[in-house]
Amino acid sequence: MPRTLESLLDELERDRSLREPGRMRERGEALDRLEIHRACGASGEGAPGPAQLRERVEALCAGFEAVDAELQQRIRRDVQRGAGAHALLEWARSAGPDGDLPGDGYDYLDTLVSGILQIEEPDMPAAPMAGMVFYQPTPARHIFGMLARTALDERDVLVDLGSGLGQVPLLAAICTGARCVGIEWEAAYVRCARRCAQALDLGRVTFVQGDVRAADLSAGTVFYLYTPFEGRMLREVLDRLKAEADTRVIRVCTLGPCTATVARERWLHGEDEWRPDRPAVFRSTR
Ligand SMILES: C[S@@+](CC[C@H](N)C(=O)[O-])C[C@H]1O[C@@H](n2cnc3c(N)ncnc32)[C@H](O)[C@@H]1O
Repeated sequence: MPRTLESLLDELERDRSLREPGRMRERGEALDRLEIHRACGASGEGAPGPAQLRERVEALCAGFEAVDAELQQRIRRDVQRGAGAHALLEWARSAGPDGDLPGDGYDYLDTLVSGILQIEEPDMPAAPMAGMVFYQPTPARHIFGMLARTALDERDVLVDLGSGLGQVPLLAAICTGARCVGIEWEAAYVRCARRCAQALDLGRVTFVQGDVRAADLSAGTVFYLYTPFEGRMLREVLDRLKAEADTRVIRVCTLGPCTATVARERWLHGEDEWRPDRPAVFRSTR
């Protein structure tokens, strides 16, 4: 263990490129490798002693985290002066079309986004009603993937049905010209999302507290569902969306298990072949 750790520390200390802000993915990988040793404790036989190794591990981790924090603060300031789209979309592009991970795992883009948005989390959200799905944020790479594929502009109104802490409407408001709305049942989440929008000075995003089944959907052009509900509740909301689609063309984007149900709706057609491991985009037919 000490030998392995020592050679890892030598390697990471030598690699100056890991201190370059643009190497966040590689820093994340290095931090993951160090974390294993942190968790086990840098102990064992041989020189240098474990305390010295521990200090080196901590110094490297602190150094990497400081570079990340500075990068996140810089982009946050850009967002606050209305110029955050470029940097964020550049990061999203460099991650590739759907990032490295299949499905709904989280990666360094989530770390980046969370340090930029700095959304506070409520201590104790209330228990959801039957049919509602617990809060889980859409991985950032899927949000960027959806934004790239929907190409939202100022004529669009994106409505996140069950918006949780608001990450999807917040990022869409930063990165596109669209108006963005989050509808969320849990009042504590709505308060956190509103505070974040205010701190970032985002004028085009609003959060509505309420049940999606009773909400006003008349302004939406693109509706997003990260499987917020299932069963009868999903059926009711799909019927409401169909009623909206009788008045205008809408798009429905989905992620997770609800995609299979949405794909069976005859009033919608997929803009391309849908895959379970990334957001699907459907357009209504009239
Ligand atoms: C899986 S989370 C998705 C959060 C967010 N859309 C995202 O992708 O990051 C589902 C959210 O939907 C909310 N929700 C479930 N049923 C709802 C309903 N009928 N009306 C409003 N919000 C609802 C839950 O409280 C939860 O925050």
